[in-house]
Amino acid sequence: MNFLEQVIALSREIHATVPSIQTPELLEEFRLRHLVRKGTIQALVESLRTVPAEEKPVAGKELNALKQYAEEAYSQLKQNLDDNKADVVPVDITLPARNAERGHLHVITQTMDEITRIFASLGFTVEEGPEIEDDYHNFEALNFPPDHPARDMQDTFHINDPAGKYLLRTHTSPVQVRVMERQKPPIRCIVPGRVYRNEAISARSYSIFHQIEGLAIDEGINFSELQGTLFSFAKQFYGAEGVVRFRPSFFPFTEPSAEMDVTCYLCGGKGCRVCKGSGWLEILGCGMVHPKVLANAGIDPERYTGYAFGMGIERTAMLKYGIDDIRILYENDLRVLRQF
Ligand code: PHE
Repeated sequence: MNFLEQVIALSREIHATVPSIQTPELLEEFRLRHLVRKGTIQALVESLRTVPAEEKPVAGKELNALKQYAEEAYSQLKQNLDDNKADVVPVDITLPARNAERGHLHVITQTMDEITRIFASLGFTVEEGPEIEDDYHNFEALNFPPDHPARDMQDTFHINDPAGKYLLRTHTSPVQVRVMERQKPPIRCIVPGRVYRNEAISARSYSIFHQIEGLAIDEGINFSELQGTLFSFAKQFYGAEGVVRFRPSFFPFTEPSAEMDVTCYLCGGKGCRVCKGSGWLEILGCGMVHPKVLANAGIDPERYTGYAFGMGIERTAMLKYGIDDIRILYENDLRVLRQF
């Protein structure tokens, strides 16, 4: 290889390398190979002295051009790499993406939906009624006479209206009356909703809570149908092992009245802290709709009979999930909400 050929060979190498220099390390390699005092270009410059005189002008010109190119390429690349420092930080495209956080339904809503689905599968429709209710529907039509001590069971928030007639409903039972007023039997409905009671707030009671009411009115409905329906519900909601029992009770708007218990989910009936040693958990009130209530709502009690039941959602959810303080359901602490 004569001198000119050596210059051309080096020029090819340098031109081929420059476009692939994309990191500071490669650029430094380039500098050390070509641009330092002991590098390829300087070596050729030094051997230029030995080139025959007639070749010198052409070869020297080529070599100079190469030197200039290599130096400019170096400073240009250095400039680019300095400018784009952020871009050369390697990006790991295999890292999992950051998840956008999605909300979900509150455990009370989930429980209410689950109970609603079970009764819907048994043929019940879903009804609603107002949360600001009048005294008539909340109490009087349900056979609570004015000043009757049964009203004490439900400490009421009254509205400051001139007629003194409105209140926050203390249960979902007024919707029984509203449904019977607007619909002829057969009726089979449930009423999920929010209710209010002026209770001292504690681990067991809160001033706001939710209930699901059930109502069935038709010819020939008897207490066994009530028991069968609730038994079927309990089996689906609490699981097949859940045994239920009915205890006599009192509500002004049902006769006879009962409360239904299920075997304690925690101890399986042996008795524990949750069931206070009894082995049973109270879950709902129920009974045959009182003939006076049917008559108040314009339904003939001689022809029709029916049953009603009502259960608290918070209580049901607390028993199902082992929550021991009702207040945490209303604090909206994400650490709690995310668990359900
Ligand atoms: N409304 C009653 C309560 O809140 C529950 C109930 C509903 C009882 C329907 C009997 C029938 O305590």
